[in-house]
This record gives sequence, C-alpha cells and structure tokens, in this order.
Amino acid sequence: MTAHRIEVSLGDRSYPVLVGRGVGSRIDEFVPAGAKRAVVVTDPTIPFTVSTSLPSMVSPVVGGEDHKTLSTIETLCREFARFGLTRSDVVIAVGGGLVTDVAGFAASVWHRGTAVIHVPTTLLGMVDAAIGGKTAVNVPEGKNLVGAFWQPRAVLADLDALDTLPQRELRCGLGEVAKYHFIAGDDLLSVPLDARITRCAEIKARIVEGDERESGQRALLNYGHTLAHALESAGSHDLAHGEAVAIGILFAAELARTLDRIDDARVTLHHRVVRDEYGLATDEQLASAASNEIPTLIDFMRRDKKATDGLTFVLDGSRGLEVVPNVDPVDVQTALESFFARGVGRQIG
Ligand SMILES: NC(=O)c1ccc[n+]([C@@H]2O[C@H](COP(=O)([O-])OP(=O)(O)OC[C@H]3O[C@@H](n4cnc5c(N)ncnc54)[C@H](O)[C@@H]3O)[C@@H](O)[C@H]2O)c1
Ligand SMILES: [Zn+2]
Repeated sequence: MTAHRIEVSLGDRSYPVLVGRGVGSRIDEFVPAGAKRAVVVTDPTIPFTVSTSLPSMVSPVVGGEDHKTLSTIETLCREFARFGLTRSDVVIAVGGGLVTDVAGFAASVWHRGTAVIHVPTTLLGMVDAAIGGKTAVNVPEGKNLVGAFWQPRAVLADLDALDTLPQRELRCGLGEVAKYHFIAGDDLLSVPLDARITRCAEIKARIVEGDERESGQRALLNYGHTLAHALESAGSHDLAHGEAVAIGILFAAELARTLDRIDDARVTLHHRVVRDEYGLATDEQLASAASNEIPTLIDFMRRDKKATDGLTFVLDGSRGLEVVPNVDPVDVQTALESFFARGVGRQIG
C-alpha cells in the first residue's frame, strides 16, 4: 500500500502528514538538516517503536491523564539536558494524544523551541491530536490549560500501529472520526477505513490551515463536544471521551432538529453513522448519560471553557456545521429531555 501524503500549509511552519502502513520507518526523511541527536518520547507499554540513524535515547512517559502534567514536562526537559539535546536536534513523539501533547509541549519550550516529529499510534492521534500543533498539559484546575501552539516537522501516521490498539481505544478514535462525517459533508461511509483516516487527517489539515490558532472555524472540531465535556465533568467516568463525543454528536443533531435547522432525514444520517456504522452510543451508554440530572449537565455546558457567549454548540444546518452561540437554555432542556426520554433520541426511518 502506498502512503498518502497530505500537506499542512502554514508558510514556514508547513509540514506533511503521511498515512499508510510502514510510514513510521521514514523518520530520517523528516529530521531537520543539522540535527545530530534525537530523543524518542514514548510510553514504553505501547507495542510500536521507530528507529532513526541519529544517536538517540528513549525518554519514557507514563500513560494516563494523571501524568499529563507540568512535572512530566520538567522530567522530560531534564532528560533532554542530560542527553545533550540542542536546539538544532529533534524530539520524536511515539504514542497517542497524551504522548504527542506532552512531547510537543516539551519540544516547544526546550531551548525556546526544538523540532518535533509526531508518530501517532492511536486512531485519535492520527485523525486529530497529532495534527495542528496544539500541545498541552493539565493542572488540577482544568484539562489542557497550559500549553503552546507548536507545529511538528511531520506527522507519520503508521497504520501498522492500529493492529495492536485495544478495541475501546479504537472506539474512542471512531467517536472523533464520526464528527468528520459532518464537518466536511462528504460521504465517508463509501470508502474503506484507511481512506477514511486519510480523509479525516486531510479535513483536519484544511481546518488548521484556515485557523491555526483557533479563533474561528477550528472550533468546528468540537462537534459533539459540548455535551461530551459536560458528561465527562458530571462524572460519567464509565464513558471514555470518544464514547461521550458520540453521544454528544447525536444530541447535537437532536438540538439542531429542535431548532428547525435540520430535517428528520439528517437526524437519521447521524444515527446511521454513529450507531450503525461505528457501534457507538449504545443503549447502555445512553442510559449512563441519561442518569445525569439535566440541570447539572446544562450548568456544566455553560461553564465549558470554549463557551464565551452563553450556551454554545456546533450545530448542523443548511450551510453545514456552524458555531451557534447563545442557544436558549429552554431549547437545550427540551432537546435533552426528548433525547434521554427516547433513549436514542429521534430515530426515524
Ligand atoms: N492536541 C490536540 O489537538 C488534541 C486533540 C484531541 C485530543 N488530545 C489529547 O489526546 C489525549 C488522548 O489521546 P488518545 O486517545 O490517543 O489516548 P492516549 O494517548 O492516552 O492512549 C490511550 C491508550 O492507548 C495505548 N496505546 C497507544 N497506542 C497504542 C498502540 N498502538 N497499541 C496498543 N496500545 C496503544 C496507550 O498506552 C494508552 O493506554 C488526551 O490527553 C487529549 O487531551 C489532543
Ligand atoms: Zn475530542
């Protein structure tokens, strides 16, 4: 299989995204000229490795959101120092969104900015986290509050890595893949999964090109995320992020229907993609979501860090997805009630 190559065009920060089997072996092509050393940042429990002809060391990070902290950044930087990594060298991140977020952030601050190459090993990383240059760590007061925009030199999405990815992690990625079905408006159902991954990476690349620092259309990537974040904050910890996003996408369709922005057929399409195609938003998961108090969820949605103008949702409509600020809480309440009452919301046809 030949690799697909997508360019992220950002002037002097431009870079390619390669998607295909075996692309992880092509690190050396993307190492900056003049680099003499490399640090590979990875979670050693991930059964995927890369190699480079440069002298290199592996800097391990421990998996799990609890370790996505400033203290991990300090540990990495101290290892960079001991290894003698200079500003003209390179950091190689091999892992899921957690690894690319922390390695990218460490690279962004190491000597005020050192090159990083991302090798995402999860589906979510390949279609989302590794592309676009957002890096961050958490503080106890909130997720991803400390970070930097730092574009990688290249993103090598090696599909071989997905062979070992646990089912649940795959589903999490599919929750994000589902959102791309509605962002670009093309028929992703008609192509095989590897082509879909490539298309998702391409959609993300185009959005990032248009809005590198998230002042506008990049927010469309939050489709399904308003309710998802509220469910996560309300403590539906049995729902993984992508599973919560899947529910959020179906709810966004219900809300758009309540507001007469879309018709029943469009709602049905949401169900086909999310439930039939990807097996997400199962009855059990919807029941878990529905066990939350509606006013509590609305309260969390109001506090969403991206909601600068009242209750903000990304909603489908005749012009495609749009960011809709100041949605009337009464409409949100009505839509949530009918969504939860019917278990799967409006299911027509
Ligand atoms: N920067 C961005 O734009 C952006 C976008 C979305 C999400 N994120 C961040 O990404 C993180 C979530 O990323 P994720 O879903 O990739 O999770 P993750 O990085 O936590 O990885 C999930 C699990 O999969 C394991 N794993 C990874 N690759 C594997 C493989 N090939 N085979 C077997 N196991 C493997 C990991 O060890 C881990 O246990 C969050 O911290 C989130 O904030 C960032
Ligand atoms: Zn997400």
